[in-house]
Amino acid sequence: MKDLILNEIIKNGIFITNQLLDEDEKNSLKKDFLNKKNKELFKIDKEEQIKKISETLFNFLQQDSIKDFLRDYFGSETKCTNVLFSRAVPEMKIDDSEQIKKGNVFGFHNDDSGKQIKINILLNDLDEKSNGLEYAATSHKISKLDKFLISVLKNFGLYKNWDKHLINYQKNKIQGKKVNFMSEKEIKKKFKIIKVHGKSGLIYIFDTNGFHRQGSVETENLTNYKRELITLYYNKK
Ligand SMILES: [Fe+2]
Repeated sequence: MKDLILNEIIKNGIFITNQLLDEDEKNSLKKDFLNKKNKELFKIDKEEQIKKISETLFNFLQQDSIKDFLRDYFGSETKCTNVLFSRAVPEMKIDDSEQIKKGNVFGFHNDDSGKQIKINILLNDLDEKSNGLEYAATSHKISKLDKFLISVLKNFGLYKNWDKHLINYQKNKIQGKKVNFMSEKEIKKKFKIIKVHGKSGLIYIFDTNGFHRQGSVETENLTNYKRELITLYYNKK
């Protein structure tokens, strides 16, 4: 399983599976989820702290396939920095340029924090047309031109720890736009979009350097559903 996760994320930036959680774990996580407020965020210093938030969650994260994948992907030891519990209500689709102006999660963006992995555990069934994550496959990879420019700048002692997109960032900056966004039109021209949907217990893991957004809906009758999610953030130690 570890190699499956690692290879998919190296290739596309995202891995989706319904094979990691069993029924008991899912039910137990759901129980723990009910005790949390919407958008309740826990800052994590030591991974043991997760035990207090949810023992099932802590135990789930100890499996080799996850630990080994994280270490191999980052090429060093990693740490969980945040655990977020969220219930996201779908919103009706509005003009893409408006989303980007607002700089919100409904426009394609990267998290602007360099290499970062998010592990998401879905706790309700999610329709394909609802507000699942849309991920631009392969967009986590920094382009050859970006890499070349970064290496030149590094020779001058600049952009030392820069490990994210450069041209898109600088282009947006000059134009006075949100630096870490890209228009839907440009994204769809360059990348294939993977939309996350499926049954409760689905797990999806992605590199937040890739462009992604929360899907918005085109019909009112999907706006009653909430997307229940536990999200874990992982960064280099
Ligand atoms: Fe994001």
